[in-house]
Amino acid sequence: GARPDLAGRHVVVSAGGTREPLDPVRYLGNRSSGKQGYALARTAAARGARVTLIEANTGLPDPAGVDVVHVGTAVQLREAVLKAAADADAVVMAAAVADFRPAAYAEGKIKKKDGQEPAPVALVRNPDILAEISAERARPEQVVVGFAAETDDVLAHGRDKLRRKGCDLLVVNEVGERKTFGSEENEAVVLAADGVETPVPYGPKEALAETVWDLVAGRLTTTAGG
Ligand code: C5P
Repeated sequence: GARPDLAGRHVVVSAGGTREPLDPVRYLGNRSSGKQGYALARTAAARGARVTLIEANTGLPDPAGVDVVHVGTAVQLREAVLKAAADADAVVMAAAVADFRPAAYAEGKIKKKDGQEPAPVALVRNPDILAEISAERARPEQVVVGFAAETDDVLAHGRDKLRRKGCDLLVVNEVGERKTFGSEENEAVVLAADGVETPVPYGPKEALAETVWDLVAGRLTTTAGG
């Protein structure tokens, strides 16, 4: 899109997946590619926004014209998001944040010992960044967007999650059933706290990103830019 409808706005996007270290060489992680977050960052920049992209473990090159902050863990991601959100018009949490992290970090590589069963890995809860920024609202008019992958009762679970997280928009990715037929469909519905639900048909991640920014821009039109 060539519309500069995000000119004068600062938007924050998180992308990728956090890694929670067990020791200097091992971590608990996830398979998030970060591509949706990068598409959101690129499209926002093309629409005139100043973009802060907070990236976790994607291995993707920094997009041109975007401020990129590299993080590893959920705790680091939280710190970077809260800092960037302080003057942000919109925050989009596209990153897959680990719900739990190992309770302890071993300074030296954990060794296997002959004849001993492996020790269980104790986990502790990570902070819920999306819920926290939704509750805090560093600026009163700030628009907060979350992502959720749901396998069944997509809309019901999505609506419930939107309420629990307290964000303005929740992008629900429909995953599951269709996969059993071997296709990689990526239908999404954007749920809004005001009850409006916007289906986004299968297509490139840029198209979903543009829809998200359309909805964000629509919520920002009543407030002054800059
Ligand atoms: O609860 P669930 O993990 O399904 O929610 C997904 C959304 O919440 C995503 O937008 C993700 O970035 C965000 N999230 C978060 N902090 C967490 C877990 C998820 O900000 N600890």
